[in-house]
Amino acid sequence: MQLIQTNADIITQRDIWQHKGTKVGLVPTMGFLHEGHLSLVRTAQIENELVVVSIFVNPLQFGPKEDLSRYPRDLNRDLALLEKEGVSLVFNPSPEEIYPPGFDASVEIGGVSAPLEGVIRPGHFRGVATVVAKLFHLVGPSAAYFGQKDAQQVAVIKKMVRDLNFPLEIRVIPTVREPDGLALSSRNIFLSPQQRSSALILYRALQAAETTWRKYPTERKGSTLRQIMTEVIATEPEARPDYLSAADPETLQEYEGPIPAGKGVLLSLAVRFGTTRLIDNFLLEADG
Ligand code: PAJ
Repeated sequence: MQLIQTNADIITQRDIWQHKGTKVGLVPTMGFLHEGHLSLVRTAQIENELVVVSIFVNPLQFGPKEDLSRYPRDLNRDLALLEKEGVSLVFNPSPEEIYPPGFDASVEIGGVSAPLEGVIRPGHFRGVATVVAKLFHLVGPSAAYFGQKDAQQVAVIKKMVRDLNFPLEIRVIPTVREPDGLALSSRNIFLSPQQRSSALILYRALQAAETTWRKYPTERKGSTLRQIMTEVIATEPEARPDYLSAADPETLQEYEGPIPAGKGVLLSLAVRFGTTRLIDNFLLEADG
């Protein structure tokens, strides 16, 4: 496995792959890898001749009050895990390499960046879109792999690829969960044992809304689905919700009244436990 840390070196590789027509899959990450990341890597391995994993904790996507300095990091452990998976190349640039002095550009994807996480974390998706656009240019992949866990990030990246004509395919991989249903996240290590058991309430709230969606098609209303999630979350005194949403999966606009036949729904929520903030979602299909 090759470790590359400079733009010049990754560009050299990209030009060789492009010359040979090699099918390259890119898995962008911020490291501290878990089974969720590895499931993206495994799918990318199946679908490509060569897989590049990027590990870069992107300062641009953290707000001034957010956890950039306490974001967990362990490069040696990550490299060992990726070596075991048979990954060809890891791209691990420094912040100065990606954002040299004088760097002054940004990629702003309107609409889908604004609601939900966009309200709580202003500028977050500008940071995500900017770094992902740079990674796409530097690596030149045929496909890039993202987790359904970050549903709004997926919507933003898909819109960026469409609106700015990036020549690659976006592949979305299902959320990997603990056996009890908690979505895997690098931030789960910050939960106390008590908070860890309270955190299951996100999954329970989504399940309760999903049950109504399946059993009572006449209750397929945005307000009803949000109400169900609100009630379940309220049973857990430690849980402080930032938002609970039942929205159009593509535009992320909230559904108010009845959800049109033939349309699915993205149920998503963000809940704080002490200083740790967790997000989760279910994407429900119209015929589900
Ligand atoms: P990071 O949080 O490291 O996540 C990297 C990728 O792993 C994302 O596409 C994310 O959705 C996916 N992922 C995380 N937890 C998952 C889970 N439980 N199941 C399946 N996939 C999961 O997301 C980012 O980094 C950054 O914003 C990035 C795209 C790298 C840009 O900086």
